[in-house]
Amino acid sequence: MNIDEATEVICNGGVVAFPTETVYGLGADALNPEAIARVFKIKGRPSDNPLIIHLSDPEQVALFSDDIPQHAFTLMSAFWPGPLTLVFQKRDNVPDIATGGLPSVALRIPDHPTALELIRRTGPLVGPSANPSGKPSPTRARHVRNDFGDRVSVLDGGECRIGLESTVLDMTSDPPRILRPGEISPEAIQKIIGIKPAYTQSGGHSSPSPGVRYTHYKPDASVAWYSSGTQTEWDKTLLITHQALQGSSSKIFARVVHYRGNYDLLARELYDQFRTADKHGLKRILIEPFSSEIRHPIIAALINRIEKAVERDSSHD
Ligand code: TXA
Ligand code: MG
Repeated sequence: MNIDEATEVICNGGVVAFPTETVYGLGADALNPEAIARVFKIKGRPSDNPLIIHLSDPEQVALFSDDIPQHAFTLMSAFWPGPLTLVFQKRDNVPDIATGGLPSVALRIPDHPTALELIRRTGPLVGPSANPSGKPSPTRARHVRNDFGDRVSVLDGGECRIGLESTVLDMTSDPPRILRPGEISPEAIQKIIGIKPAYTQSGGHSSPSPGVRYTHYKPDASVAWYSSGTQTEWDKTLLITHQALQGSSSKIFARVVHYRGNYDLLARELYDQFRTADKHGLKRILIEPFSSEIRHPIIAALINRIEKAVERDSSHD
């Protein structure tokens, strides 16, 4: 579909998948509760898991919140458009369905020309990742087509540049708190506002970011960290490495992908690797652990998403 068609569908209360620099989103009018209800239905998303609202201009923040701390403006000018989602107290006009009943609202401006053009035409859009709830996020238009077939039209914007979802930063707490790690690291945030953000490792039931409670990022193949003691059906296993993996060379894997220290590329391709493994009927995905010496801003997000996929296999929830 083209951008004129996408605009029309959204302005009529429909849902369209659109590209961003992180992952594809399922877009619908952020001020139309019925359109938002369609997004929850299509994704099969629990109603208490709130959505991020995507803007095209920082001035639109005032439509959703009138309680913006000063350092939030500093972060917006440093990182927007970009992969940083900021959580504020919401205004009463924001549909409760968008925020899962929470008193706060999550906002970001995506750094993708197609997304920005679309939002300029339609106004603010809710945009959860465009995958069925619990599956890996889509980073290519074909991922969305594979997941939803003709139930969702896709505005094709090519491959997502970052490949992992945005950093979510709660500005309602002091200091601000990272609810989901992403490409914008705590160090990058600290450099801009001079305050080190707190970090919630994982959410219990009291977590203010309901999304961290739910199954995420999980392919059908089981995901595990590789160790020298790992036993598996090697010929049905994908191995993802990025440094040098001792002891793996004697095994005959179905497939081995080596990122040679290119962590940005690993992030960009991780979900595609998960999906390709499923397509080829592989049973297992083994990933080389990250040594604590590696200093790269995307590592925390990579570990977080891989841990989610691993956890689900051991906890079965
Ligand atoms: O990169 C991204 O953020 C992508 C692209 C499409 O923009 N979107 C995305 O949306 O990842 P979603 O819905 O899959 O994840 C949003 C996360 C969830 O963990 C959700 O719980 C959290 O943000 N969230 C949304 N609103 C919140 C709020 N008011 N308070 C705390 N957490 C919130
Ligand atoms: Mg998601």
